[in-house]
Amino acid sequence: MNTACRSLLSTVGRRALLNATRVQHVHKAAAASSPAEPLVQGEPNGPSMKTVIPGPKSIALREELAHIQNSDAVFFFADYEKSIGNYLADIDGNVMLDTYMQISSIPLGYNHPDLMKLTQSREYQALSVNRPALGNMPDRNFVQRLHGALMSIAPKGHKHVQTMSCGSCSNENAYKVIFIWYNQKLRGGKPYTDEDLQQCLVNQGPACPDLSLLSFKGAFHGRTLGCLATTHTKHVHKRDVPSRDWPVASFPKYKYPLEQNVDYNAKEDLRCLQEVEELFKAYKNKGRPVAGVVVEPIQAEGGDVHGSPNFFRELQRITKKNGAALLIDEVQTGGGSTGTLWAHEQFGLESPPDIVTFSKKMTTGGYYYTDEMHMSEAYRIFNTWLGDPTKIMLLEEFVKVMQRDNLLDVVRRTSSTLEAGLGDIQHQFPKLVANSRGRGTFRAFDLPSMEARDKFVNEMRNAGVQIGGSGPNSVRLRPALIFQPRHAELFLDIMSQVLRSKF
Ligand SMILES: Cc1ncc(COP(=O)(O)O)c(C=O)c1O
Repeated sequence: MNTACRSLLSTVGRRALLNATRVQHVHKAAAASSPAEPLVQGEPNGPSMKTVIPGPKSIALREELAHIQNSDAVFFFADYEKSIGNYLADIDGNVMLDTYMQISSIPLGYNHPDLMKLTQSREYQALSVNRPALGNMPDRNFVQRLHGALMSIAPKGHKHVQTMSCGSCSNENAYKVIFIWYNQKLRGGKPYTDEDLQQCLVNQGPACPDLSLLSFKGAFHGRTLGCLATTHTKHVHKRDVPSRDWPVASFPKYKYPLEQNVDYNAKEDLRCLQEVEELFKAYKNKGRPVAGVVVEPIQAEGGDVHGSPNFFRELQRITKKNGAALLIDEVQTGGGSTGTLWAHEQFGLESPPDIVTFSKKMTTGGYYYTDEMHMSEAYRIFNTWLGDPTKIMLLEEFVKVMQRDNLLDVVRRTSSTLEAGLGDIQHQFPKLVANSRGRGTFRAFDLPSMEARDKFVNEMRNAGVQIGGSGPNSVRLRPALIFQPRHAELFLDIMSQVLRSKF
């Protein structure tokens, strides 16, 4: 790396440069009320970059990894021991402001002191070393922990929860619950014959019913076989893998700014909802009825595509009318980053969704469900671990910290800073940045093409900001809940500088 480049990237140099060219953001109100101190002690004041990303050590290690497994998706190797709060360190000595947080997880940032302290307890260590099979031999504090962690923040109307390990296995098992519920309803309690039971062992007969789940174009619900049939983002996930003929409806594609496109967007809702109604009919006529509808509150991997509250209310009405279940996949949106614990809280639904799946910021995977979805028989939903009690311990601590430090309030204040700042940037760079949108700090904007987006993400990383792409040409922000207005200001400054100097 040449000297000019290195000095450009030195923290002190960049801060001076940024101050000189600072965008006049209209976010004084948010900044004025921001706490003076970071929520995690020991954070640096800003990124510091020693190499371009990936640096030489990361490149060497990536080549070594390539002999063992495909390493093409590795950006760099991180140093998790040296990372702190909103700052992620790599093995080449770079420290980046992280607005992406391990693909939208890690709610309290890196090495949060309260979580680190928890891992020192005998209980945490015993559960970590002796990982229990939770369905058979949960530990003595398991029930109490479920109350403290998961039930204390359950979506309204949900009295039940099942833990799982990841987002895909949460959805995968939730899909099974829907099929079991729907098929039992169809059979009206009629028992299976011995022959039916023998046949289902080889995937045949009435105990393996031909049912379907309706999902949306652009949706992402995971990469396991069942989930993949409802994932429609990129062909790299899908090609060469057998899938199901299940209905796929259009998801609204709004024009921004929303307030200037009210009529167009309302028609968009109507178009998609009509398609849902038609698909319910078509698949019933095919002999493959729709047992459930699966939908993200914001299509995340698909490029932060939003549906209106009215769209979701009507979707729930149509689903109910057809005797199907509504699964809201909050794997990426759950846990507070949209400004509420659950994004669907903002939709004003008539009744609770039948199932809500979660993972990522929630630390453990799993799903909440209503009374109707309760399994009355053992081993219908089961696997070896059914999640991990140490992750539930971490979640319990996260909930305490979130309440103690008013983190949902921090998210809302940071959201105002980001919204105003991105609005300004859009104004300043109209040929580069468009469609700024989001709820809370769950935000995105578009660049003109995939190439421009990929270049932007790379340049931001080299300038000290870890950020994510999504969809064909979107950039997504997925910071931790400890991302304060001060971090947002820094991010906006660096973004302006990158747009100005690299495009
Ligand atoms: C909405 C949604 N559902 C499901 C998943 C799958 O979760 P996991 O990667 O933990 O399997 C993801 C992952 O990005 C997601 O965003």
